[in-house]
Amino acid sequence: MTAANVGLRVTGLTRSFGSLRVLDGVDLDVPGGITAVLGASGCGKTTLLRLVAGFLEPDAGTIRLGGRVVAGDGRAVPARGRRIGYVPQEGALFPHLDVAGNVAFGLSSGRRSTTGRRRVEEMLELVELPRNVATRQPHELSGGQQQRVALARALAPDPDVVLLDEPFSSLDAGLREETGRSVARALRASETTAVLVTHDQGEALSLADQVAVMAQGRFLQVTTPAELYLHPASPAVASFVGHAALVPAQAVGGTATSALGPVPVRAAREGRVLLAVRPEQVAVTAKDEPGCLTAEVLEVSFFGHDATVRVRVVGSDDLVELTARVPANGVPQPGTQVGVRVVGEVLAFPEDPS
Ligand SMILES: Nc1ncnc2c1ncn2[C@@H]1O[C@H](COP(=O)(O)OP(=O)(O)OP(=O)(O)O)[C@@H](O)[C@H]1O
Ligand SMILES: [Mg+2]
Repeated sequence: MTAANVGLRVTGLTRSFGSLRVLDGVDLDVPGGITAVLGASGCGKTTLLRLVAGFLEPDAGTIRLGGRVVAGDGRAVPARGRRIGYVPQEGALFPHLDVAGNVAFGLSSGRRSTTGRRRVEEMLELVELPRNVATRQPHELSGGQQQRVALARALAPDPDVVLLDEPFSSLDAGLREETGRSVARALRASETTAVLVTHDQGEALSLADQVAVMAQGRFLQVTTPAELYLHPASPAVASFVGHAALVPAQAVGGTATSALGPVPVRAAREGRVLLAVRPEQVAVTAKDEPGCLTAEVLEVSFFGHDATVRVRVVGSDDLVELTARVPANGVPQPGTQVGVRVVGEVLAFPEDPS
């Protein structure tokens, strides 16, 4: 079996710490490629990776790697027998070893002394680092280079699956994107199945083949990035992925009426619904422009390429707040009033999904 068709399957995985149930019957199928696990801090992402790697034992459920049960059903294959590469959340490199020593660390001593040097060079090339970094100490590398060395170390023993725990979280925005892309290229080039934990949705959507959205120890939805964004399974997923504002409304046919006035909805629904309004669907205009609602600007976040503006719709009984994405040259001041209009069809969910 080649690395390309070794998958990971997790079924009913449950794990508590004391009275805190951190994973509550998690199911996940990773057939290959890159799967991103996306979730808020503390939702159980690292716990999941530690269970898969074999650093923790589950209370219930099974973990299969390449069809073989490695945990559960009375089996507990130790971490070193799982053919897994792990890039931990913190302190990835051994500070007392140079880059070559770090990358070669997981190789068997026989392999290290024979083909070790070549393997180190191959791995550095794979993660797009020049060969001459091999003799540097970790503290002589940039944050992005350190992350790539950590990945090279995880990939050197040719694992079937590599687990990456927020590998880019300590990097600044530009370096983060560049490192993310080069790590994804290295994973694809080596045909390694990967699970990438992140709480950055841009990272998850742009790098992964599949995104698993986690909340309170369960997966809310596991699907492709496009499907996740275009067809979120629930209001919770829509508000987390894409920062949608949830607005209660009454739907008749293809129109929902709410504090935002009548808006067209994407799928015809009847009765009480929750609208999920994304920032790119909210246009900010001058106050009193015909067809617009009046809103007060609460907060502005300027990003350079654009900005987000949080507003409260004036006159709405239920204090509806929306976030709008606006161009950098059209950013209103907090405390002022503007016009807002919802553009295009809005996602609508039944208010009571049961
Ligand atoms: N060894 C442990 N003993 C007790 N509680 C733990 C242990 N490991 C994790 N927890 C708790 O389990 C919950 C989930 O932790 P976990 O590290 O899996 O979260 P996470 O999703 O990785 O969060 P972050 O994004 O902040 O890294 C947290 O409430 C944490 O305090
Ligand atoms: Mg974590």
